[in-house]
Amino acid sequence: MSGSVLRLGVNIDHVATVRNARGGTVPDPVRAAKLAIAAGADGITAHLREDRRHIRDEDMRRLKAEIDAPLNFEMAATDDMVAIALATRPHGCCLVPEKRSERTTEGGLDVVGGHDHLKVAATELASVGIRVSLFIEPSPRAIAAARSIGAPVVELHTGAWCDAIAHDERDRAAHEFERIRLAAQAAESQGIECHAGHGLDFETARIISALPQIVELNIGHFLIGEAIFFGLEATIAAMRASMRAGRTGLPLEQATDVVVGTA
Ligand code: PXP
Repeated sequence: MSGSVLRLGVNIDHVATVRNARGGTVPDPVRAAKLAIAAGADGITAHLREDRRHIRDEDMRRLKAEIDAPLNFEMAATDDMVAIALATRPHGCCLVPEKRSERTTEGGLDVVGGHDHLKVAATELASVGIRVSLFIEPSPRAIAAARSIGAPVVELHTGAWCDAIAHDERDRAAHEFERIRLAAQAAESQGIECHAGHGLDFETARIISALPQIVELNIGHFLIGEAIFFGLEATIAAMRASMRAGRTGLPLEQATDVVVGTA
């Protein structure tokens, strides 16, 4: 499962955030998705939130119809969302916790307390061939619960680690990274595919890419923000170079031209 393969999923939610600020049709998140794929994204992630603050139902429908890369549908495990996912049939669904008041997905799922409910949603999605992933805290307890739920994939929440780095809190950053490292190992040893995401930038993506058990990073806010200054294509190319540098241990300048698996 692990090794050189390291996919980049690009989350295009915040293209829709900008569009919705004016209430019109531009910038179009589907156009961003196509550009991201052309620039080297292996898949597209979009979160249909209960309040539709960025991605809307029609975006999800168009993404599925118009892009030719795997679509990762992020959603809360509610009956309404499961029904939309069953109708949309994305490649994958990532189940996330959702509170209306939060600015972003602030923590992982309560996979222990919500075990039975999550299992019902995961089983229903899997029954039509959708690959289910659970967005969890990097802890052995959460990995064990994910296994019991039957999820083939977990995505480790990297937000606390990225936050510690952003605030230059070195001890906390080291502690959080160790949690991620151990959780990635635990996932692999339980036969669960391991992804990671939330708050990643060029530097944190480079560091986390050194963990061989992690085979996919999902990144949104930072990429869309950088794209304002440098364009989506150049930003995605730079992110891929960071990921390659982290994976191979090569200096960034050399990693730019090295091709590792992107399957
Ligand atoms: N993965 C999951 C499950 C998320 O909920 C998010 C945020 O929508 C991301 C990855 C991307 O996080 P960010 O936008 O901070 O890169």
